[in-house]
Amino acid sequence: MKRRKIILDCDPGHDDAVAIMLAGRAPELEILGITVVSGNQTIEKTSPNALNVLQYLELDIPVYAGCGQPMVRKRIHAADIHGSSGLDGPVFPELKRTVEEEHAVTFIIRSLLSSEEAVTMVTTGPMTNLAMAMRMNPGILDKIERIVLMGGSYGNGNITPAAEFNIAADAEAAYVCFNSGRPITMAGLDVTRKALCFPEIVERMGRIGNKASKLFVDLMGHFCRTQKEVFGWEGGPLHDPVPVAYLIDPDILKTKAMNVEIDIRSEQSYGRTNCDYFGYLHREATADVAVDIQVERFWDCIESGLRRYG
Ligand code: BDR
Ligand code: CA
Repeated sequence: MKRRKIILDCDPGHDDAVAIMLAGRAPELEILGITVVSGNQTIEKTSPNALNVLQYLELDIPVYAGCGQPMVRKRIHAADIHGSSGLDGPVFPELKRTVEEEHAVTFIIRSLLSSEEAVTMVTTGPMTNLAMAMRMNPGILDKIERIVLMGGSYGNGNITPAAEFNIAADAEAAYVCFNSGRPITMAGLDVTRKALCFPEIVERMGRIGNKASKLFVDLMGHFCRTQKEVFGWEGGPLHDPVPVAYLIDPDILKTKAMNVEIDIRSEQSYGRTNCDYFGYLHREATADVAVDIQVERFWDCIESGLRRYG
């Protein structure tokens, strides 16, 4: 099987950690590197969080720390959901691994330019690193096969009524990426809020009984509790593994081509992904937006991913 080359750009984050777990041993994917960004917590916290997950899972994938600030606005974090560490809940052994010396943005540029085939960029955090790489060296654009992101919403937001966290945390960066002319698949809250990790799902994954399954249960213990406190639902929406699951099994998502504009001007709706679902504007489609998810198939994909750890 030909493996799809990806760079996973993330801000772990409980659901980012599950995305890493799912991608880490997927035979369909070859991870060139994991790049980390400020988002759920500061870059000083999201970087060791990524390393802790990789070390615990014995995944030998290099980690590159990236931008600690959004392109224009002040940074925001999501401690209400992910805790003061950004990954509250699991207790990891002493961290022995360190991030690579190279900055995430120069890593993205270098690895795209040196790759013979185009690379898929998977982003599960604010899009700062990718946007910066595009601005620093537009020559990388042809080497981006597709951007597959968790972010945005054509319905409600989760950080304001209008906006989803990853886009609102750096809407200018999302604007750069969505206007790059590269193909985009957007897995937003419209579908990730259907991937609710109810207690029976946590039990199901716990029964696998390996180290990945233990980490999953520890992560979900915190994540589902804070999701209930903040949003009121019983199962936390497992956002970030959705774009990874889609790359493993594309039938998991149903998408619709739409013109998508990122709102970087309004005060009330900053960070909103204005998706022209009905095509009112007669503008060119700029993204394949996920409109439905096969939930059972998604959980089967997660279970298979966890089972790959012995
Ligand atoms: C997104 O925001 C973060 O808190 C999660 O990790 C996910 O990437 C959901 O809006
Ligand atoms: Ca994330």
